[in-house]
Amino acid sequence: MTRPVLKLKRVQDTNIEKGSTVLVRVDYNVPLKDGKVSDDTRIRETEKTIKYLIDKKARIVLIAHLGRPKGKVDPKYSLEPLRSYVENIMGAKTYFCSDCVGDVAREAKSRLGDGEILLCENLRFHPEEEKNDESFAKQLADGCNYFVQDAFGAIHRAHSSTSAITKYLPSSIGFLLQKELEYLDKIVTSPQRPFVAIIGGAKVSDKIDVLLSLLDSVDVLIIGGAMAYTFLKAQDVNTGKSLVEDDKVEEAKKIILKAFKNNVELLLPADHIVVKEIKEDAKTETTQSMAVPDDYIGVDIGERSIAIFGEKILMAKTIFWNGPMGIFEMPPFSNGTFSIAKKVAEATKNGAISVIGGGDTINALKKSGVKPEEISHCSTGGGASLEFVEGKLLPGLEALSKSN
Ligand code: 3PG
Repeated sequence: MTRPVLKLKRVQDTNIEKGSTVLVRVDYNVPLKDGKVSDDTRIRETEKTIKYLIDKKARIVLIAHLGRPKGKVDPKYSLEPLRSYVENIMGAKTYFCSDCVGDVAREAKSRLGDGEILLCENLRFHPEEEKNDESFAKQLADGCNYFVQDAFGAIHRAHSSTSAITKYLPSSIGFLLQKELEYLDKIVTSPQRPFVAIIGGAKVSDKIDVLLSLLDSVDVLIIGGAMAYTFLKAQDVNTGKSLVEDDKVEEAKKIILKAFKNNVELLLPADHIVVKEIKEDAKTETTQSMAVPDDYIGVDIGERSIAIFGEKILMAKTIFWNGPMGIFEMPPFSNGTFSIAKKVAEATKNGAISVIGGGDTINALKKSGVKPEEISHCSTGGGASLEFVEGKLLPGLEALSKSN
């Protein structure tokens, strides 16, 4: 696949002087409940960049979004509860500022000491952020000397803090973004073969572009999760009461045809775990074939599918996985997804390069008992990693490249 050559400057190639103020865009869109962060991975993943800046005795201003507050102040989406997490993880004095722009932000930035951190309130409390407004970007840059982009998960958005900001400050990329690009680029441009992609999740509609583009590079494409039922329907296989996107059956047919033309082995589940009703204590049965009997709903892949998919995964030298194989959140339907997670870890141990993307998939991986360290790279960006693999030029990267 031909991809545009991007001119990206790394933070370690920027001469950041002691006492300079560095604006860092991070993706701290973390799960938050009752003021507690249930998964702090996205904060931890920025540790290398922030500690590097602390070592340089820079003054660090963090900007981020949380949720989708639609341009209005909504305490539910405040970043304030994250302050103590940032302070503990980075081991540096961290202040919180109730706004990311205006007098209050200007003053808080000016009070920062060397090696200290200021975490600013949610960017998306301002409607200008998502409009990629230039004067808002200029306000974000106010009082800062450098910009470091480390929010891979938001890089597919053309927002003030990911795009326009690069016009106002010398810009570079942090260590998290460098690692993301290194792995994703490897699997997209020079995958070692066999290259196996595992795509799951509920909807085909979310994954059509990525499926079509993966068919130009993979040797094997495994499709699981509820989206597999749309593919089975496209081949006139009975899907019972399983989730099928009827309006995507034609797209599924096109994908099947492209796989055939490109000589890609496309694997669909050979059997399913089925129930009559989706509930935790449902009585599960396993089908004897690809077909789901009338009155039944497919909720996971069965043992035969696990064996067939597993064999391909263990032969792979490159693996890309996005999307669970079933409703793994419910224990009786989690075996398929968890077994695939273990196979991917085993293949990685045997030398394959594995990249996993998407919040659901990483959540499933953790629940399966596989540690993120057993995978070559767990991407912090769901949508961003998919769009990167699709071959799209991500707006945040384009802006950084243009600014250099
Ligand atoms: C994510 O969680 O995928 C990123 O933070 C992007 O969030 P968004 O889809 O709300 O832009």
